[in-house]
Amino acid sequence: MKLISLRTGAAVVAAFVMSSCAAVAKEPASVDEQVDALIAEMTIGEKVGQLTQFSDLGDTTGPAPNDDLQRRRRDLVTSGTVGSMLNTIGLEDIRTIQDYAVNESRLGIPVLFGYDVVHGYKTIFPLPLAEAASWDLEMMEQTARIAAAEAAADGLNWTFAPMVDIGRDARWGRVMEGAGEDPYLGSKIAVARVRGFQGDDLSDPLTIAATVKHLAGYGFAEAGRDYNTVDVGTVTVHNIMLPPFKAALEQADAATVMNAFNVLNGVPATGDRALQRDLVKGKWGFDGFIVSDWGSALEMINHGFAEDERDAALKAITAGSDMDMESYVYFNHLADLVEAGDVPMDMVDDAVRRILEVKFDLGLFDDPYLYIDEGRARETLMAPEHLDAARRMAERSIVLLKNDEDLLPLKQGESIALIGALAADKDSPIGNWRAMGESDSAVSLVEGFEEAGLSFTYEEGTALEIGDAGFANEVIVNMYDRSGFDAAVAAAQTADKVVIVLGEDGLQSGEGRSRAHLGFPGLQQELLEAVQAANDNVILVVMSGRPLVLSWADENVPAIVQAWHLGSESGHALTNVLTGAYNPSGKLPMSFPRAVGQLPIYYNHLNTGRPDEIPDVFWSHYIDEDNAPLYPFGYGLSYTDFAYSNLSVTPTSNGAAVEVSVQNTGDVAGEEVMQLYIRDLAASVSRPVRELKGFKKVALQPGETYTASFSLGPDELGFYNGAGEYLVEPGKFEVFVGGSSAATLTAEFDLETATAID
Ligand code: NOJ
Repeated sequence: MKLISLRTGAAVVAAFVMSSCAAVAKEPASVDEQVDALIAEMTIGEKVGQLTQFSDLGDTTGPAPNDDLQRRRRDLVTSGTVGSMLNTIGLEDIRTIQDYAVNESRLGIPVLFGYDVVHGYKTIFPLPLAEAASWDLEMMEQTARIAAAEAAADGLNWTFAPMVDIGRDARWGRVMEGAGEDPYLGSKIAVARVRGFQGDDLSDPLTIAATVKHLAGYGFAEAGRDYNTVDVGTVTVHNIMLPPFKAALEQADAATVMNAFNVLNGVPATGDRALQRDLVKGKWGFDGFIVSDWGSALEMINHGFAEDERDAALKAITAGSDMDMESYVYFNHLADLVEAGDVPMDMVDDAVRRILEVKFDLGLFDDPYLYIDEGRARETLMAPEHLDAARRMAERSIVLLKNDEDLLPLKQGESIALIGALAADKDSPIGNWRAMGESDSAVSLVEGFEEAGLSFTYEEGTALEIGDAGFANEVIVNMYDRSGFDAAVAAAQTADKVVIVLGEDGLQSGEGRSRAHLGFPGLQQELLEAVQAANDNVILVVMSGRPLVLSWADENVPAIVQAWHLGSESGHALTNVLTGAYNPSGKLPMSFPRAVGQLPIYYNHLNTGRPDEIPDVFWSHYIDEDNAPLYPFGYGLSYTDFAYSNLSVTPTSNGAAVEVSVQNTGDVAGEEVMQLYIRDLAASVSRPVRELKGFKKVALQPGETYTASFSLGPDELGFYNGAGEYLVEPGKFEVFVGGSSAATLTAEFDLETATAID
């Protein structure tokens, strides 16, 4: 049991500690005891306050609040009816609110300050999906640690990240925020990110509480349309959707969970008791708290699940949603519900206890101002070593998709036409969910080329958008202005090589940014075709927050680089990859479709009863497109080549030991992500044609060979049935190893004994 010492305005807690110290003489009170003592003193209004989160209403600094909203907020905090704020930014504002809570409210309970610190706070790292392409867990843990240190220095103690939703449908704009389509990779990344944010000790002033979100199924929105209905089978729920949550809670002790906007199989996630109270808090034993998504309790009325606000409050608290973000339904109705006997006080106390414990764990009862430190903020935000990490992470996130005749890397002395609005854009690489990342603060590719002393001319070609995009607005795409085309084509005609940068504005992916078309927005495709007709040596750099449909480019352009939105150091990282100063090593965390009609597309699909091509039409296929993606999950090239050999699979008592070698057969040093997939050939539930079950990123000099060992045991070989029971069944398994999910080196083994796990 964790013990703490207190020096806070929480008078009750202090009194309790003193009396228990007097009684027991030596043993300070445990956190549980202190929380119990505090809860025993709280009025129902104060309890509801702890379960309520408000978004910031504006600037609170300066003289006494002078408008109604501000006065009301101060009143609410001082009356102890606000447990947490979100979107309160900056040391002064946070200190002001913490002062109200600690010095002016009756019990002096400190406030939790939450914010979407998704891929950096001030130093901006690549989008989470881009980072996932690095398959570099240590680097991802490090970038989360830096984001936490920056946010924590600036007053925050809680991030609404990582998003661990599986993304199989690139139409959904929030795939940018996750780790892609695979539950195994997604679980490893979820654990790394939570460890990065939280460290080993939540009360360390350099760490903050993490949130795994959105429980559950948000990434499975029908047709990729944000907030849409989710209807998927329970086998998929247990095997694909939930594993990253389970891993983050069990292996990294994530402090909080956020539920979701969507209906999952008929029940809005916020009101889903089986999911939150029974499974996550019950069976999994999660002892942190669950926060609703923004207004999601209230949205249960629109879902046709709650009759009115009071009913929404009843259903949300009963289901286990502990803190209400911006619905005000607990604030307005929970006390009545308790008084009427519809909600037992124990249920409210349980939710309050969970929230207070996180506040204790964060050290806020020891020091409510722990995270408010001007000196630390000055030293930490955008520290040079943070930018250095941002560059290294960005280099590792880039995926080389095509490189015919070694067009890349660029060679010294070549003349280059650099084309495209995104090449000069200092804002788009910052991406969406940019926290305190400043507009126009990224290093552009034009700047990267200039600093590297490359011989190039820059032409915009066509503007991507008209006016400035905002977090809450649609980007207005340029559909008419072709005035820069001629100059771009002329530059292409006289250059040795063309680097053309096309894709999405940084605010064209993210929440509320679903797309029905996945080509290049606006006139960019037209520009690409005009430039390609003018020069054979075109290198296409794609900036986007999701997989786009690159079929035309794949057929017509010799080199393609997937550059996502890479954050503050975008231009430096891209320049290093294009010139070969860094040899690309990224591998796709999502399949890239050939056509929107293939979506959702993912490598770990079931086989169907008619998988094989036959002369007639009666097999599972499209008559107008291939089944396979354009670029599969796990795929990515390098400036060198890797050859796999010597696969050995030796059965063990409960699985198999796998060994395989990889050799760098090219002329330059490089990194390869060795990937291991299995297939369970027959089971009581149909299993996917391939499932990732191991990977290793290795750096090899030319000619060097590395032999990797993987072990397959019950954790890798089992699966959940539709009732959520984990089974490991005997039988034949295939193993595949290689550099992508299309790996061809294969072997088989028999698992002889079954193991029941839970
Ligand atoms: C809504 C989003 O769905 C959620 O992920 C985010 O944390 C909250 N808004 C707060 O900004």
